[in-house]
Amino acid sequence: MRVSINKIKEMKQKGEKITMLTAYDYTTAKLVDEAGVHMILVGDSLGMVVLGYDSTIPVTIDVMLHHTRAVVRGSQNAMVVGDMPFMTYNISTEDALRNAARFLQETGCQAVKLEGGVTVADTVRRIVDCGIPVVGHIGLTPQSINQLGGHKIQGKTPEAAAKLLADARALDEAGAFAVVLETVPAPLAKLITQKISIPTIGIGAGADCDGQVQVINDILGSHTGYIPKHAKQYAQVADITAKAIAQYAGEVASGKFPADANSFPMDESILAGLK
Ligand code: KIV
Repeated sequence: MRVSINKIKEMKQKGEKITMLTAYDYTTAKLVDEAGVHMILVGDSLGMVVLGYDSTIPVTIDVMLHHTRAVVRGSQNAMVVGDMPFMTYNISTEDALRNAARFLQETGCQAVKLEGGVTVADTVRRIVDCGIPVVGHIGLTPQSINQLGGHKIQGKTPEAAAKLLADARALDEAGAFAVVLETVPAPLAKLITQKISIPTIGIGAGADCDGQVQVINDILGSHTGYIPKHAKQYAQVADITAKAIAQYAGEVASGKFPADANSFPMDESILAGLK
């Protein structure tokens, strides 16, 4: 039985921390699921950490559906959240409903995430009214990176802080069951967490959010690119991987691999007949 939205909401009431981590493929989803993480986000960050784009903007809905299906196949217990990519919920409410429905129908995930606050609240309400659970996402919203002017800390001025609180409240009232707060000063994230009824899930938003989310490649150190300040590296998987690849290539070149143990023998008499 997968984690439900009721369980996630209850965890806030009980003061239990919610864990969310991204995954983009079957094998990784299985490991994340087996570790007991509550929610797996198939984030559009896959555009950068899996596909090599320099932003999330080129990611299409078909790409997201493809990866979300793999993550659903790899997991049994976690709630899987599909990230609605750039411009798949902004053109019209009908379009947003159709695209949100595709995530649940075509992948088997349990919820969708979309970016924005007050401006998307009506759309969130309509999606939720159709029975599709929604996670909001405010603060640094990577799909608006060109508008925001870079990866900057959000909510630092009185106006920006008040806007973030209004965005969080609008999502709460619209029926979202959780909201991601990205790159927001910790004291502001704490205040928002106290002021809204739904759980906040922070990434670069301090320890007082109801839960935390990270991009798995950042915490595993599985890439050699930029690691954001908010990400702690729990392993250096890129180093281990690079060493293993170099050793493999070296052993193939020297003839050390494959050894007899990696090869399949055959009846000598059959071979002799062929010769
Ligand atoms: O796409 C993603 O991985 C995200 C997280 C950073 C919250 O939106």
